[in-house]
Amino acid sequence: MSNKKIPVAVLAATGAVGQRFIQLLEGHPWFDVIALTGSPRTIGKKYGEANSWILPTDIPESMRDLEVLPSTPEAAQTPLVFSALPSDEAKIIEPLFAKAGVAVCTNAGAFRQDPHTPILLPEVNPGHTALIHAQREKQGWEGFIVTNPNCTSTGMTIALKALQNAFGVKRVFATSMQAISGAGYPGVSSLDILGNIVPYIGGEEEKVAWEPRKMLGKVENNELELAEIGFSIHTNRVPVIDGHTVVLTVELNAPPADFGLVAAALAEYQAPEVSRSLPSAPQPVIRVRDEANRPQPRLDIMEGKGMTTSVGRVRPDGIFNLRLVTVSHNTIRGAAGGSIYNAELLVEQGFIKR
Ligand SMILES: NC(=O)c1ccc[n+]([C@@H]2O[C@H](COP(=O)([O-])OP(=O)(O)OC[C@H]3O[C@@H](n4cnc5c(N)ncnc54)[C@H](OP(=O)(O)O)[C@@H]3O)[C@@H](O)[C@H]2O)c1
Repeated sequence: MSNKKIPVAVLAATGAVGQRFIQLLEGHPWFDVIALTGSPRTIGKKYGEANSWILPTDIPESMRDLEVLPSTPEAAQTPLVFSALPSDEAKIIEPLFAKAGVAVCTNAGAFRQDPHTPILLPEVNPGHTALIHAQREKQGWEGFIVTNPNCTSTGMTIALKALQNAFGVKRVFATSMQAISGAGYPGVSSLDILGNIVPYIGGEEEKVAWEPRKMLGKVENNELELAEIGFSIHTNRVPVIDGHTVVLTVELNAPPADFGLVAAALAEYQAPEVSRSLPSAPQPVIRVRDEANRPQPRLDIMEGKGMTTSVGRVRPDGIFNLRLVTVSHNTIRGAAGGSIYNAELLVEQGFIKR
């Protein structure tokens, strides 16, 4: 590997996830943001004037005067792009980049259902990048598209992977309490969410019931087999700014006689070797809290620089085998930080040349 940084572009850099990319990529050891894009609303403006900055750190000085470009490979001209495009736009724009030989690491849901597009969590399924070979062959692309999961699937899938490895997972009943930043900016109206809970997020339950089966499934001969796990999912929007909480009840294939082994399996879970030491790797992957009232989004989302999944209230269940709570940062581990970690893995595996 050379020491030269890889030039990258951020597509849809002005929104909630785009801003996280800009924040997290500042000073990244491998990637250097040289281009950013926006919608026709902001194209041609300086980045510092094109967005309502919503993060508590300042806009990086080096980004302030960059011109917002159209989302085309001709305008962006980098070998790797991070995409925070809305799904409908991603469906059209991301293949143009892949066709032009660009590696696309996206947050959008547009291609998650495609059997040859990995939904990637480096600490869970780094081997799923083998699907890229089949994707390139099928599409005739030199580049490729890799997605990260929906922000609610993220934390719960990481916890389920630790349980799957140790005991096997048969069925999961889960309810989410999702932060308002998950709906982007300006997102949910304050009149709808303040002092309230909205028990519906369009399309979310279907995604959260299906994506973990793909990530926890097997890839053999560049083809994917979904994990045979049953999911029953409820999703809710709650008046929390950042951090998705999921409460889960889990039926295991082989529950341990000693219940203490469940918390130990979660706490001791390690990312596969290839993903363990990458710059954005969560340290630790899972933090198990033993306080009776944790994890909580306000207190725990920045664990491991926002990349660690916090788990708590690990206890037996009278119908299935166990109950637990996960908290994960939706715009860091569940979005921009996750995509950056994916790109680091793709560099490590040689899919992106350095
Ligand atoms: N928020 C989360 O926690 C989260 C987590 C995981 C995944 N995601 C996914 O990430 C994506 C972005 O979500 P978000 O929360 O950042 O949404 P957002 O705050 O509403 O931002 C949307 C962004 O899309 C840009 N855009 C719209 N049309 C465009 C076009 N034709 N070309 C280029 N840019 C265009 C907007 O640019 P202008 O400002 O220039 O109009 C804006 O930057 C979505 O696919 C979402 O599902 C979000």
